[in-house]
Amino acid sequence: MAAALARRVAVALRVDVDVPTHTHPGLATTHGGKAGIDLDDAVPAFARAAATGWLDVRGLHVHIGSQITSVEPYVSALERSLELMQRLEGESGLRLEELNLGGGLAVPYRQEPACAADDYFCCTLTPDDYAAAICAVLERRRSDLKLLMEPGRAIAGTTAILVTRVEGEKTKAVRDESGRRTAEERWLVIDAGANTLLEHTNYDWYFRTVVANRADRAAATPFRLAGPLCDGGDVFAGDDGSAFRRFPAETTAGDVIAFRDCGAYTLEMMHPYNARPCAAAYAVVDGQVVQIRRADSFDDLVAHDIAEGAPLAERGTLPK
Ligand SMILES: Cc1ncc(COP(=O)(O)O)c(C=O)c1O
Repeated sequence: MAAALARRVAVALRVDVDVPTHTHPGLATTHGGKAGIDLDDAVPAFARAAATGWLDVRGLHVHIGSQITSVEPYVSALERSLELMQRLEGESGLRLEELNLGGGLAVPYRQEPACAADDYFCCTLTPDDYAAAICAVLERRRSDLKLLMEPGRAIAGTTAILVTRVEGEKTKAVRDESGRRTAEERWLVIDAGANTLLEHTNYDWYFRTVVANRADRAAATPFRLAGPLCDGGDVFAGDDGSAFRRFPAETTAGDVIAFRDCGAYTLEMMHPYNARPCAAAYAVVDGQVVQIRRADSFDDLVAHDIAEGAPLAERGTLPK
């Protein structure tokens, strides 16, 4: 593309520096994933890019995943990146000025005083911890390098809530294999499911909840919480790894349940699943609530449908 435009372009090449991380497998971008140039191919890839003449190969780009809750993988990634840069500079004669080091900071979806080692929803890492760990290595080994850092989902995660309404409630039996009733579960069905909060099903994501109109009441009664879709999978994960969320006992239809920390990957992933209209969105600007997205209308849902059908111009070609 640079050659076609006759423009010299500054680039960094993304290499998979292959460090283990602990996050949801769907968010890992190193150590066996699809992203980046394989570490063994990095030297020829940089040499090939430099040889085009159109690419000003400025740096190395590394991304190890999203929702990484400890500094150790970043430090390992940085150390591996610096080793690779040294090799690249030695073997290809390039001088790299920049290192783009991602992923970024994790969102504290769960905030416990101490996080369990395998709980990637729980994060106590601050930007200062992250910066201190990275800068200590960089200052010792390559203080001239320009460091670009991706802030990650934490830049937006805590800025938004998803407001839902309880549409229905019921009690259902839990039965053993012989059909004998062994327990009962109280269910709440709300008007937002995977269509509005996709991560809850595609990554089994956990978001804290509060019954907003009963926020001053003790939340001690276990409920199962479900979205409105017909899919049996549209059921929210419970608290503390259980199937249940604890809400005030009197929680009922008409109540408002707010999901916290929905600022990252909610509006962007919301979709008209099974032709359900997407929700409206609001922002608080200078203390005023302003609407920043209108809810989908019926016309929006059918906007791309072609009622008459569109004949293909030529056999085998698809119209745009
Ligand atoms: C280069 C790059 N930046 C950012 C992200 C998303 O990370 P985050 O959710 O922390 O913003 C990804 C995810 O794969 C990525 O590959």
